[in-house]
Amino acid sequence: MKEPVILAIESSCDETGVAVLQGRKVISNVIATQKVHEQYGGVVPELASRAHQQNIVPTIQKALNDSGISFSDLSAIAVTAGPGLSGALLVGISFAKSLSMGLNVPLIAVDHMKAHVQAHFIDSGTPLPEFPMLCLTVSGGHTQLVLVSSPNELKEIGRTIDDAAGEAFDKAAKVLGLPYPGGPMIDKYSKNGNPQKFKFPFPETPDLKYSFSGLKTSLLYFLRKEKEKNECFIEDNISDICASFQEAVVSYLLIKLKKACTQVKPKSIALAGGVSANSRLRYLFSELSSQLNIPCYIPPIEFTTDNAAMIGISAYFEFLDNRFAELNLVPSPKASL
Ligand code: KG4
Ligand code: ZN
Repeated sequence: MKEPVILAIESSCDETGVAVLQGRKVISNVIATQKVHEQYGGVVPELASRAHQQNIVPTIQKALNDSGISFSDLSAIAVTAGPGLSGALLVGISFAKSLSMGLNVPLIAVDHMKAHVQAHFIDSGTPLPEFPMLCLTVSGGHTQLVLVSSPNELKEIGRTIDDAAGEAFDKAAKVLGLPYPGGPMIDKYSKNGNPQKFKFPFPETPDLKYSFSGLKTSLLYFLRKEKEKNECFIEDNISDICASFQEAVVSYLLIKLKKACTQVKPKSIALAGGVSANSRLRYLFSELSSQLNIPCYIPPIEFTTDNAAMIGISAYFEFLDNRFAELNLVPSPKASL
């Protein structure tokens, strides 16, 4: 059977992404990043919707041009249905619906968090990971432990009860006066810092539950106290503060992952979501994999932060399962796995 050709659209937050896939192969993958939010220190939903409206047509055109594929070759249109910002999702969904109607091809609704995990199944010339796979998904809005029994069977077995890991990085960066998004900045400064210099204790949460709000507060109180003694404390110690904070977040993430491994005995472990771009997490994650003797999968950077290739691969498995969306599809801002 000829593999389906899918055009996928991602517009859940502040990246307008469009990709074209044939089967599990990515033919083109284009991202228009919205710079407009930087000056506000976080994503402004209304501005995100407007920027998606401006970006969507040129991004689709570029993805098609790069792929050499024309509208008439497409087998289906895929779009992120949630979770995400409702106005931002609506831009992608409306556009995907019109394309699906105009081209008379099916519409596929994709769950953004499921897609982050399924990014591991993009054809990269290597075999699929062995199942069950246990994936730690860490993004700006979510922190989840997901048990994957087959490419399209995913179950959440652990999650955060408050802030997400990416949110903890972003909020910490804001307190430190670093620009948004803070995660990559903290990662960058940490490279020259001592991760053991300061201690930020992480909370004792039960089972496979995470909680990040206390970590951010402990950083805030610590800085307040130190700044009373030295007004330039942050400037003088920025690398050590970043490295120590990053170490606390990353160690906490991996402690629960290790605990989950003893419970569900996965055949492989994986990282997904924007925070999996973090260099310390990548390093300690592969160390854990060697220690536990379980093969690990770390996605290429281009498939960790929001992108449409992951939406396309998720849609591919929906296509194989004959799961299509109706044309009355609406955004699901709070969708969960
Ligand atoms: O998955 P993603 O692109 O968007 C959401 O679905 O949320 O994740 C964005 C998050 C942001 O919180 C950002 O600060 C974080 O990923 N991030 C990082 C790094 N790169 C991106 N956090 C730590 N270290 C990084 N290198
Ligand atoms: Zn995401």
